[in-house]
Order: sequence, then structure tokens, then C-alpha cells
Amino acid sequence: MAVLLPGGAGYIGSHTAVELLNAGKEIIIIDNYSNSKPEVLEKIKQITGKDFKSYTMDYRDKEKLEKVFEENQIEAVINFAGYKAVGESVQKPLEYYDNNIGGAITVLETMKKYGVNKFIFSSSATVYGDPEVIPITEDCKTGGTTNPYGTTKLFIEQILKDTYNSDNTWDICILRYFNPVGSHESGKIGEEPQGIPNNLMPYIARVASGQLEQLSVFGNDYNTPDGTGVRDYIHVVDLAKGHVLALNKLEKEQKGLYIYNLGTGTGYSVLDMVKAFEKSTGKNIPYKIAPRRAGDIATCYADPQKAKKELGWEATKTLEDMCKDSWNYIQMSQGKE
Ligand code: NAD
Ligand code: UFG
Repeated sequence: MAVLLPGGAGYIGSHTAVELLNAGKEIIIIDNYSNSKPEVLEKIKQITGKDFKSYTMDYRDKEKLEKVFEENQIEAVINFAGYKAVGESVQKPLEYYDNNIGGAITVLETMKKYGVNKFIFSSSATVYGDPEVIPITEDCKTGGTTNPYGTTKLFIEQILKDTYNSDNTWDICILRYFNPVGSHESGKIGEEPQGIPNNLMPYIARVASGQLEQLSVFGNDYNTPDGTGVRDYIHVVDLAKGHVLALNKLEKEQKGLYIYNLGTGTGYSVLDMVKAFEKSTGKNIPYKIAPRRAGDIATCYADPQKAKKELGWEATKTLEDMCKDSWNYIQMSQGKE
């Protein structure tokens, strides 16, 4: 029995693929490489020493997807596929709704047709909007998303709840990621944003490598200890391990719809991140204070106790690990090591 990973060649999917293979699971990756490269598959095989099947395809292609379910014994689906650039989603809302929501529906319909009922979904802390309470627990209010990307996550969560309510034989886990950063310690896989990165850590890494001149810190007048935005950065390998434990839960326990925050429970500011990166790597990160970025909130970090209690999951990697591993990946991918 295999676990199907739509979008498994991407940043979080590839790290999860490694952890699933290390845990002895069989996997199948489907990806259209719209935001990743097929070479990642080879890297996953090198890291784990294990082989697996893959399909180059769009996960919205119902005919091809049905063929995948016919050709393989699929036990569960962990869905990473979709678009994720917040700014782009404002420019291209229909493409985001089509790929993220349309894709999720196609996968769920196909699962239903083939009697597969275990589904794990990559959601995001973005569903909490501007949180009312910090740290954020899973029962905090959701909604008030500020961009179409965030709204796709909110809508898919609702679709999953409605699907489960209509048929309790579904077994669903929604994982709300906080801010994934870092990469596998081998430096073979990592985050490779196309063009100028939107997110903080890849931007800092490119300033460190000299590809970008300086970091713009988006606002220093927030109601936070140093005025800059505070987030819950989580090492992608810790995040990946959360998926293995979520799958174990769906395999062992009663059917249900479960929701977990995957974060460390600690918030760091933009300037904390700059300092930590400088300390961990010995590189200087020039920065300037720039205006606030539209749609940003002051503070966002998780209460991860529910995942600890129910999944036995806890983030173990440090901020230093996150910085070192991000830097290691960028150096390896530029052939400097
Ligand atoms: P990613 O872009 O690296 O990975 C997504 C993968 O899906 C890519 O390999 C891409 O080629 C593939 N894909 C996209 N559309 C496809 C389609 N139509 N058919 C087949 N493959 C398709 O992104 P990621 O950072 O690994 O994120 C994975 C998931 O986690 C996404 O759903 C994202 O929204 C969610 N998420 C990410 C973050 C983050 O900060 N990285 C935070 C919260 C949630
Ligand atoms: N920031 C800068 N300069 C930059 C980039 C970011 O100062 O060049 C700041 C932001 O203003 C924010 C913090 O760094 O205060 C983190 O920003 P990111 O863009 O790295 O992350 P966000 O918290 O804005 O959003 C990320 C993902 C979303 C996801 C959310 C919660 O991009 O998709 O985490 O999981 F929804």
C-alpha cells in the first residue's frame, strides 16, 4: 500500500517524502513541476537509498489521476500540490482557485471513487487571519484571510469538513503549518523560489550569498518587542516528521477529522532572524527599514500542544539549525561546497 503525494517534488513534499521513506512507507509522487524540478526525485532517492514511482502530470487531470489509482494500491493521500505565492494570488485569483480548490476536489472525488479515505492536507496559519489570541490554538476563530491564496486554504478546510460531515468513513487530517524554513541536512533538497523570493528566510539567504544587495525589513512600527513582524519559524524536517505522525494516527485510530497546528510555539522577529542568521553563518546581512507590506500582521505563533498530546509531535530543531541548513542548501545548490 502506497501513500500518494501530489506536489511531492516541492519544498515541503520532498522533505516529507524523505521522512516517509525513512519510516518504511511506500510512496508515489505526482507533480507537474510548475514550481519544482524533476531532479528532486533523484535527490530523494540518494538521501534515502530507496526507490519509488512517480508520474509527471497535473493533479487536476481526472483521467490520468484515475489511472494512477487503478495502477497502484493507494492507502492515503497527502496533498501538497497547489500555488502558494500570496502576491501572485491577488493578481491571478482564478488560477489559484482553480489549481488549489479544483485540484483538491478532483483528488477527493477520485479517492471516493476508488475507496481511499485517508487524506492529509497542507493548510496554513494564514486561515487564522489576524489572530485574536496569541499563541494560536486550533479552536481560534478562522477567516478574515487577506488574499486569495489564504482563502483557498480556508475554503478547502471547509470542503473537507463538509465532506467528512457527509460521510464519516473519511479519515482526514488538516495540518496548519506556520513558517517553514531550512532544508535537509544533506543540502541536497531545499527551497528554491523562482525569481526574487517573497519570504524572509530565502531572501536573507540570497543576501548572504551576494545575489541580492540588502534585505528590506517591512515595517518596524508593529506592536512587537522590536517593532518588526513576529512569526513562528519551523524547520521543514520537523514539519515533515509531523506528516508521518499524522499518517500513523489516521492508520491506527478511529476515523475522524483532525486539525493540528505545526509550529514551535516560539515567535521571532525579523531582526531576530537577521541576527540569528549572521551568528549561525558568519555572514553579514545588510538591511534597511522599508514600509509595511500590505496584508501583513504583527504577530503569529502557534500553541503546538495539541499536536504534542495527540500526535506525539514536537519540533526539535533550533533556530541555528534552520539558519545553517538554509545556508548550506544555497551553497550546495550554487556548487560552493
Ligand atoms: P512548492 O511550490 O514547493 O510545492 C508545491 C508542488 O506542487 C510543486 O512541486 C509544484 O510543481 C506542484 N504543483 C503545483 N500545481 C500542480 C498541479 N496542478 N499538478 C501537479 N503538481 C502541481 O510549495 P511548498 O512550500 O512545498 O508547499 C506545499 C503545500 O504547503 C502547498 O499547498 C502550500 O500552500 C502549503 N503551505 C506552504 C507554506 C510555506 O510557507 N511553504 C506554508 C503553509 C502552507
Ligand atoms: N519580511 C520582511 N522582508 C522580506 C520578507 C518578509 O521584512 O523581504 C517580513 C514580513 O513582513 C513578516 C516576516 O518577515 O513580518 C515573515 O514574512 P514571510 O513572507 O516569510 O512569511 P509570512 O508570515 O508573511 O507568510 C508565510 C507564507 C504564507 C503562510 C504564512 C503562514 O508565505 O503562505 O507564512 O503559514 F500563509
